[in-house]
Amino acid sequence: MPSQSELLKLAKTHGTPLFVIDHKALRQNIAAFKKYLPRVQPYYAVKANSNPEIIQTLYKSGASFDVASMPEFLIVHENIKDLTEKARQDYIWDKIIYANPIKAEETLRELDKYKPLMTYDNYEEIKKIKKFSPNAGLALRLKVPNTGAMVELSSKFGAAPGEAVDLIEAAHKTGLIVEGLSFHVGSQCTNFENYVQALNLASNIFKEAKSRGYTLKLLDIGGGFPAPYDANVEPFKHLAKKLNAELKRLFPKEIEILAEPGRFMVATAATLVAKVVGKAKRDGKICYYINDGVYHTFSGIIFDHCHYHIKAFKKGPRHISAVFGPTCDALDTISLSEELPDLKLGDLVYSENIGAYSHASSTYFNGFPPAKVVHINQ
Ligand SMILES: Cc1ncc(COP(=O)(O)O)c(C=O)c1O
Repeated sequence: MPSQSELLKLAKTHGTPLFVIDHKALRQNIAAFKKYLPRVQPYYAVKANSNPEIIQTLYKSGASFDVASMPEFLIVHENIKDLTEKARQDYIWDKIIYANPIKAEETLRELDKYKPLMTYDNYEEIKKIKKFSPNAGLALRLKVPNTGAMVELSSKFGAAPGEAVDLIEAAHKTGLIVEGLSFHVGSQCTNFENYVQALNLASNIFKEAKSRGYTLKLLDIGGGFPAPYDANVEPFKHLAKKLNAELKRLFPKEIEILAEPGRFMVATAATLVAKVVGKAKRDGKICYYINDGVYHTFSGIIFDHCHYHIKAFKKGPRHISAVFGPTCDALDTISLSEELPDLKLGDLVYSENIGAYSHASSTYFNGFPPAKVVHINQ
């Protein structure tokens, strides 16, 4: 996390709103993931923040990648385009998973020449993959409990455990190969029991598949690893300890274990600096208007159900204040209760831990462009 003086200096040089990406934090996050989960290969979920420089730093730090659209695939591919054809193909096969269970025909057609591993969770998808991407390897996405996660995903994706082995069999019958299983426990999953239950479900399906003649080789434990947004989030190493114990108990050494951390890698690696552009008192409360909002870097408030705190560089007695974005929509409300000192027009504020699902879903609504991106410690 850059110091306050560093942030002020950057804002002076580059203007605001400014999205500051700290590459040292990215390297620390992937190192922590590998240290605490040594058996699990991290496939960074590009959707969390697809900035090409982030992808490059994580690539150089030995990450693999979870992509969920053709453009995301091509951002990762930029880093391997100069490898020999064999090395490139090996990289795609070993280190990229196309982890969107639903793929358009055109996407499958385009993906086929790269022969990636891809997820699926239904019969229609098997037919499509067989027809348009017959060289792909498959991972069956399982529906698992998402209880208590900040972002729930199980209502949209995942085969019910009861139909899992039938879906594996159906894929094999068409000549496709199912390499393993994947699941997602929900994003910002602070309920670690979700992982324990998912691992137990997956282990039972490994056994049932084997008894029906299908040996699975890999398990993808998805994303969900919580970012330390506040002191209530239990440390990652506690989750890792639980996961390591369950993985050891349930899955023999030869089963390859992978994960798709998105938020965990990038949330703490970016800070947003914005400027106060308006101030009013409404119903007795001070309201600040800043030049970034929920249609932009704070889009995670809507799409990610995430709450970000606004901090001031200035000191002084603090009052409960509201903070709004710059657009004409009342939805563009960042917070109705931030403790802020008395700010003047032109003062700067900042928001930490805003690297995931923020800039990635920023729009040009109302003519305001996304925040400028700068990189530090690259
Ligand atoms: C299939 C898949 N994998 C990984 C992720 C990343 O999850 P997280 O950011 O919680 O680690 C997501 C997020 O939506 C996802 O849908």
